[in-house]
Amino acid sequence: MKQGKDKKTYICSNCGYRSNKWFGKCPQCEEWNTAVEIEGASFNAPSTTNFKSSTASVDVQERLVTSMKEMDRVLGGGLTPGSVILVAGGPGMGKSTLLLEYASALAKVGDVYYVSGEESVPQILSRVKRLGVENDKLFLSSTVNVDEVLASIKEKPVALIFDSIQTVHTTGMNALTGSISQMRECVVRLVEYAKSSDTSVFIIGHITKGGNIAGPMVLEHMVDTVLYLEGEPRSGRRILRAIKNRFGPTEEIAVYEMKKNGMVEISDPSRIFADMESEEAGNAISIVVEGTRSLMINIQALTTSNRKSTPIRIARGFENTRLLMLTALVSNYLGVSFENRDVYLNVLGGLKISDPGVDLAVIAALYSSAKHIAFPSKTVFVGEVGLDGKVRSVQQMQMRITEAKRLGVRRVITSHQFEGDGVAKAKTVKDAIAKALSGDE
Ligand SMILES: Nc1ncnc2c1ncn2[C@@H]1O[C@H](COP(=O)(O)OP(=O)(O)OP(=O)(O)O)[C@@H](O)[C@H]1O
Ligand SMILES: [Mg+2]
Repeated sequence: MKQGKDKKTYICSNCGYRSNKWFGKCPQCEEWNTAVEIEGASFNAPSTTNFKSSTASVDVQERLVTSMKEMDRVLGGGLTPGSVILVAGGPGMGKSTLLLEYASALAKVGDVYYVSGEESVPQILSRVKRLGVENDKLFLSSTVNVDEVLASIKEKPVALIFDSIQTVHTTGMNALTGSISQMRECVVRLVEYAKSSDTSVFIIGHITKGGNIAGPMVLEHMVDTVLYLEGEPRSGRRILRAIKNRFGPTEEIAVYEMKKNGMVEISDPSRIFADMESEEAGNAISIVVEGTRSLMINIQALTTSNRKSTPIRIARGFENTRLLMLTALVSNYLGVSFENRDVYLNVLGGLKISDPGVDLAVIAALYSSAKHIAFPSKTVFVGEVGLDGKVRSVQQMQMRITEAKRLGVRRVITSHQFEGDGVAKAKTVKDAIAKALSGDE
């Protein structure tokens, strides 16, 4: 026993590699001088492991369903007890607000602890009052030591919330708060606690300007679920997206409006990102699929003359390399020259789109802006476009078309590969643009 107690553990501050021996160069990531000593966490492999038969009966924990339906949906249909969830987002996105509201919703089932290293208890309390989420089972603390928090818990809570992982630390670890090794160690202890007690743990994480969680990617691998809260900083609209989920589908989204009294769920967000009536040149509408939900979106393009410097191509909410490719397609198959033109592309409402089904709408918007020709209102473009200029069908076509019709779209321009009815089908981009402008089926 004594031997285990005396042993030291070293952790690589770069990749999290652990060893009982000091190392100059990390054998895993090969960085030099990254070994950090931690106390009280020596890891000795247990001598025996008990396996259970796969047919043994186990108590399957039911998911906790709350009054926050959209949050429950993003989590995969409620909160799985014992799960560890990382919630990441930029500054001021509303992470604390959303989780405080969710904490209060969960407190209807049992105790919930909200630990903030960022704000004092009076500050959190004033937010609680502003949001109207007081609950006598919701406990607030501004302790910054994870071990102290875990030691002070008497009755098993439903959930623990740490705001944020960058501001907490563990006992016995000689590394700065907010450093990679410190954050990693905190998460290790929280995961251990969650799995052994069936308490769910939420961890808030800031993201960098580049859009990554400030800290190692390894944090994403350590937790069960990763949620991103995103949106335009100046607008009140927020999107919560599951990018990893061990207990449910990913790419599921929830849409909120940030108001004075908190985050208001938008239960039917299909049309809020698009202005279907717009008849200005440079606009095109598409329908994208996000998880189980389809959303109508507005793609806007602006092309302007630039004879003085290298032309600019900038996309917001859309991958830049894909914009370059689609610009080349418009030049090649629709006879529009972008040689001396800047190209800007924007997805309205702060959405980030990776669905290939928007290709046709991007091409339509670029063409419309360059030619100063607007498409008839209530026209929707759905299809992926290959380098050969052919329009291809995408996943869940029927769902998109049904949604378009529900929202009052008059015409859907899509691929000839789609076998359903009630749409205008095109083989090539040229064909698609001609059909959209002529109004023929
Ligand atoms: N009194 C208020 N009335 C209206 N809106 C408010 C008020 N106080 C804060 N907000 C809104 O809440 C937002 C901040 O929310 P919140 O603190 O939950 O974000 P956060 O993501 O936790 O930020 P941080 O990264 O700073 O921790 C502000 O951007 C603002 O829009
Ligand atoms: Mg906050």
